[in-house]
Amino acid sequence: MKKMPIIIDCDPGHDDAIALILAFAQETLEVKGVTVVAGNQTLDKTLGNAKKILSFIGKRPPVAAGAARPLFRNLETAPSVHGESGLDGPAIPEADFKEEPLCAVELLRKTIMESPEPVTLVPTGPLTNIALLFSAHPEVKKNIRQISLMGGGVAMGNWTAAAEFNIYVDPEAAAIVFDSGLPIIMAPLDVTHRAVILRSEVERLRNLGGKVPVLVAEILDFFFEFHRAQGFAGAPLHDPCAVAWLVKPELFIAKPFQVTIETQGKHTAGMTLADQRPWTSAAPNATVLLDLDREGFIQLIIDACKSYN
Ligand code: RIB
Ligand code: CA
Repeated sequence: MKKMPIIIDCDPGHDDAIALILAFAQETLEVKGVTVVAGNQTLDKTLGNAKKILSFIGKRPPVAAGAARPLFRNLETAPSVHGESGLDGPAIPEADFKEEPLCAVELLRKTIMESPEPVTLVPTGPLTNIALLFSAHPEVKKNIRQISLMGGGVAMGNWTAAAEFNIYVDPEAAAIVFDSGLPIIMAPLDVTHRAVILRSEVERLRNLGGKVPVLVAEILDFFFEFHRAQGFAGAPLHDPCAVAWLVKPELFIAKPFQVTIETQGKHTAGMTLADQRPWTSAAPNATVLLDLDREGFIQLIIDACKSYN
């Protein structure tokens, strides 16, 4: 079976970590590289977290550090959600490998241009690295199959009433990506707020035993706290949705929309405006995930964790 080549661009981040664990467990995916961006925490922390997770699961793909800040705006991190380390909770051993001497844009360019098959990009943080890639090396677009990203919100934001965190941090970068002309699969809060893992399911993971299921349970123990205080029934697994669509798209309900990124608004900067007018003549630029088979999605996560045992 031919594997789908992907590159994950992330800001670990509890849910980014689970997205990495999910991706590396799939026989249908070939993770050709992992690039890191500032977002949930500063770049030094997100890079360190990415390498720690990969070392812990025994994977050592090329890893490269990217943008330490958004294109124009000051970096805003999310310690309230992910802690000061960006991956608070379990003690994870230091990484046993080093990142590439290349920057993220160069690793992305090289990997994409050298791939015999068109590459799928899987951004799960602010889109700064991807925007820089398209600006510096537009030639890569001819060998990119699609972009499956976590970001945005049709009905609401989470960082502001209008904007979801990944888009809010770097709206200008998101605008470049959504204007790229490439096929985009967007996993917004509308689906990720339904993609929650319940306490009972976290205990199923812990009771599986084994280093990876137990680590994921401990990662979720911390991630639960913030979201429980917000009134969620469980912990929303935002970033794994962008990977799960590539593996089992049938788990999701999706609709095509034209999605425009607000970059000027005083109150709406980072908003992902989906044109839902039934009579619109606007050409869609994104396949927007709106709902999912939650139990099927959680089973995919649990099976992935179990596969490391
Ligand atoms: O809004 C959720 C997104 O912001 C996720 O990617 C999470 O990791 C944070 O980066
Ligand atoms: Ca993320």
